[in-house]
Amino acid sequence: MSETMRMPRNASPTLASLIDARLSRRQALLGGAATSLAALFGPQLLTRPALAATGADSTLTFTELARVYDDTHHVAEGYDAQVLLRWGDPIVAGAPAFDPVKQTPDAQAKQFGTNNDFIGYVPLPAGSGASDHGLLCVNSEYPDPFLMFPGITEDDQATISTKDQVDVAMQASGHNIVEIERRDGAWRVVADSPYNRRITVTTEMAIAGPAAGHTLMQTSADPTGRTVLGTIYNCCGGITPWGTILTCEEGASDTFGGDPAKTPDPALLERYGYDGSDYYGRARFYDRFVLDREPNESNRFDWVVEIDPYDPEARPVKRTALGRMSHEGANTVLNKDGRVVVYMGDDDYFEYLYRFVSKGTVDMADRAKNRDLLDEGTLSVARLDADGTLTWLPLIHGEGPLTAANGFADQGEVLIKARLAADALGATPMDRPEDFEPSPVTGRIYAVLTKNGKRTAEQVDGANSRAGNDYGQIVELIPPGEGRDADHAADTYRWDMFLLAGDPADPAHGAMYNEAVSQNGWFACPDNLAFDPQGRLWIATDGANDFGIADGIYGADTDGPGRALPKLLFACPTAAEATGPCFTPDGTTLFVSVQHPAEDSTYDAPSTRWPDFDDTMPPRPAVVAITRKGGGVIGS
Ligand code: FEO
Ligand code: CA
Ligand code: CA
Ligand code: CA
Repeated sequence: MSETMRMPRNASPTLASLIDARLSRRQALLGGAATSLAALFGPQLLTRPALAATGADSTLTFTELARVYDDTHHVAEGYDAQVLLRWGDPIVAGAPAFDPVKQTPDAQAKQFGTNNDFIGYVPLPAGSGASDHGLLCVNSEYPDPFLMFPGITEDDQATISTKDQVDVAMQASGHNIVEIERRDGAWRVVADSPYNRRITVTTEMAIAGPAAGHTLMQTSADPTGRTVLGTIYNCCGGITPWGTILTCEEGASDTFGGDPAKTPDPALLERYGYDGSDYYGRARFYDRFVLDREPNESNRFDWVVEIDPYDPEARPVKRTALGRMSHEGANTVLNKDGRVVVYMGDDDYFEYLYRFVSKGTVDMADRAKNRDLLDEGTLSVARLDADGTLTWLPLIHGEGPLTAANGFADQGEVLIKARLAADALGATPMDRPEDFEPSPVTGRIYAVLTKNGKRTAEQVDGANSRAGNDYGQIVELIPPGEGRDADHAADTYRWDMFLLAGDPADPAHGAMYNEAVSQNGWFACPDNLAFDPQGRLWIATDGANDFGIADGIYGADTDGPGRALPKLLFACPTAAEATGPCFTPDGTTLFVSVQHPAEDSTYDAPSTRWPDFDDTMPPRPAVVAITRKGGGVIGS
């Protein structure tokens, strides 16, 4: 999501963060703490190369793209970037061709949605590992009506959009499942495939887990609290070990209208940013989006939704055990003990990092047996201390402050009010957590904090080390053990700063990379991550335009002489964000979402008409497929 879409929240620093501010993480590592790290983790950390190795080089051998920011996309020499799926492209059988002046809700419900974000690739057949045939599962995060229809601006879209336009915009967001195959080096969409599917804000889905059926989940349309229409603000996501998709609702707050003060719990709405702004005009036509008419409807959003892409008839399921927040991603790892672990960031200012550990274990031989695995387990929130310790604090009803006396009647209420529960536990407020992804090679986990210009000098702590942080950082979390032996269910980890983004040539930014970083390789506002099969980290940015550079995709090693040495592979067109990076299993294709091109303008006067450059076509968000000319693994 672009910065303009965010709903800021004010927060005060915790006592812990004020104490943390007195001790810099780097000083701690240089002092006695290094001894205890060695004792805890053995040679793993001791053999890790120094961050600022002179003359460092990278395992990424491509020639870095020279810095460029204009009305089209660019990719490094030796690579192709094929535009594969654009907003409006027909995907479901019977879909009409895209016609921007004849848009209808029915047509859009069968066409590729707008503002594509998370991308998950699952192979066909299931479990085959195929890298030339699969299902592309793509979020469409939110509509931009001022770029979809003539005659309206960002400021008046909520009041002057017609009901038909509101409905088209609703059908343009959600999720897309599209069969694709690669032939003769080029990817193509398999039109009318029975797998092809749209999931939108009107798709019926189930509510499962401890909050299902809760009184706070019941509405006049659904007195059971177990069925909900649709999913909203599908930002990032994840793929489970059994091949289902987790699509993450990143806060439906600005899609609701009405008066929060006239509801039973205004404080809860405020904590989740629901102010009745009705940013898309939906409350004018649908009572369920009016907070004071249907006060529990908002509790039925801001969850993680599981979708089985291999079964077009399967109902999506909201998994309440994973907690309610502005979910960015939900990245899974199969722990060494067979349990599944999900890492999740809550993307807002001063929000938290979460982890879910399942109670049961994954059955890799029978995927149907994992159907309800995400309904039972332990959700925890992270406290990061300045001495490099990370402690997972469990959100369990009846433990510590999470009691009825404090407003948590049962586990369902703890999960519906997960942010309040995390506040009570003393979690560490972070600089807007975005993607949060485990390395498939080392087992270490990388948490992106995109930026936080609201953090004051008094609120600076170890992992959120800069006041007025307009640049973002990536924090490395280190569980006990390494690689497949890493214990992702442990109560405590270590943490380290991987890099501090910003321009290293400007001392005011306080950036920290491998010192070999080039003027093309630094970035600002990291957002989504992907690991390639070699365990190299690829970083998508959202907000670099504020620094006069394009948002794009950067690769970096996490170990060796190239640790934290980003190299620019791909640059977005005007006002677009790069998001959803996703590799095929063999690492030869990197899919990327180019989201909201021309978002600084309008349909009538777009700042770019990417990717069609046709005067009869508006700018269209699109998925691009990046490959090496002549084939081969991306990056080397
Ligand atoms: Fe939708 Fe956190 O970006
Ligand atoms: Ca973002
Ligand atoms: Ca994002
Ligand atoms: Ca990711």
